[in-house]
Amino acid sequence: MPERIIVRPTGPLSGRVTIGGAKNSVLKLMAASLLVRGDVTIRNVPRIVDVEIMSDLLVSMGVDVRRPHDHELAIHVPDDIVPEAPYELVERMRASIVVLGPLLSRFGRARVALPGGDDFGPRPIDMHLRGLEAMGATFENAHGYIEARADQLLGARVMLEFPSVGATENLLMAAVRAKGTTVIDNAAREPEIADLASYLTRMGAHIVGAGSSTIEIEGVEELQPVDHTAVPDRIEATTFLAAVGVAGGEATLVGARPEHMDMVSQKFGDMGVRTSPCGEGLWVSRPPDQPLRSVDVATLPYPGIATDYKPLFVALLALADGVGIVTENLFAGRFRYVDELVRMGADIRTEGHHAVVRGVPRLSGAPVRAPDIRAGAALVVAALGAEGETVVTDAWHIARGYEDFAGKLRGLGADVTCEHTG
Ligand code: EPU
Repeated sequence: MPERIIVRPTGPLSGRVTIGGAKNSVLKLMAASLLVRGDVTIRNVPRIVDVEIMSDLLVSMGVDVRRPHDHELAIHVPDDIVPEAPYELVERMRASIVVLGPLLSRFGRARVALPGGDDFGPRPIDMHLRGLEAMGATFENAHGYIEARADQLLGARVMLEFPSVGATENLLMAAVRAKGTTVIDNAAREPEIADLASYLTRMGAHIVGAGSSTIEIEGVEELQPVDHTAVPDRIEATTFLAAVGVAGGEATLVGARPEHMDMVSQKFGDMGVRTSPCGEGLWVSRPPDQPLRSVDVATLPYPGIATDYKPLFVALLALADGVGIVTENLFAGRFRYVDELVRMGADIRTEGHHAVVRGVPRLSGAPVRAPDIRAGAALVVAALGAEGETVVTDAWHIARGYEDFAGKLRGLGADVTCEHTG
């Protein structure tokens, strides 16, 4: 596991970087595999820690998970498994909660540890439970676990209070084998949800509207195991976009899907970072002699600016001309990394859901700590625009969501090294 990432100043970046499969799609595709018996193959699977945790979770249930090739998972789901997600694994990765829908659908029962709060603040699952209840599931809380039951899930109309990604996915996976029609209104529209729906459709599910706010699912009795390639990771791609924004230069993000990055590309464009779709993916450039311009940014569900991009924007704004206001609308506590950027010389003031970022000409390398996946990556990106050496500790957070982050940056000419433990 990478323990520390060390960043030293270099000039502008240049070259090509290959974007891997989307973490937030692959984790759900793995969970959805529980809906079938037999052998499924998932391709374009990044080598990241969260995929290992989801593998451990499936293995703990009695599922066989192998990696026959670098970016491929072969999953064998036997007839009978233990429909349980233990605390040790849910605590390591909150996304484990997405096994609830498929387990209930296939086995009529599930025992899943309740996820606690984290660095983002409280992360409730009330919408998941309310939607599943509308489909006939019952829940009991005992000893930190949710005990769920549903002899037969029934199609229902569910209106989500907020377009929650996880709730939409859990309901979608529960609905594909429910009796009758389910409609999810105010559904999340992220490309990863459309990817999950395309996986399920390939299995034989009847789904209309995934990727829009209304998803209609007609339940079927059986699903078949399939072979599926995950969508590329728009968050990883945006991280390299930001790296070029901070360091200057140009790069081709090979495999990136420009149509999944419209809003973020537009915002980066307003800051002076140019992007253009190209045959291989997305081309990005920022002439090193042209300063970054400040903008205001508010996070919103897709197609808005994702909360996951926010630390990257804050890093860019820290070095831009002028003042930018960043507003977080999804996760209350997601400003922890700001103190670390301030230690690097950034001028940032936070108040409630807002951060006021006053650009400075140069940051100053310092020891900092990665508080979570995205903020950790953003600290490395910020360090590309710092004088002197930056040492990012707790870099294992970054490895949860990024495959060989330091190596990929080195491929673009950055001086970034990784120290491992264990
Ligand atoms: N919420 C509720 N009740 C619920 C569910 C959600 O109040 O039952 C609230 C949350 O507290 C939050 C908002 O709704 O304020 C949005 O949460 P959502 O359910 O959409 O998020 P998630 O499914 O838990 C996924 C990604 C996150 C990403 C968010 C938002 C995965 C594994 N995680 O989380 O990604 O930030 O959507 O886009 O897909 C990451 O990759 O580092 C990451 C944190």
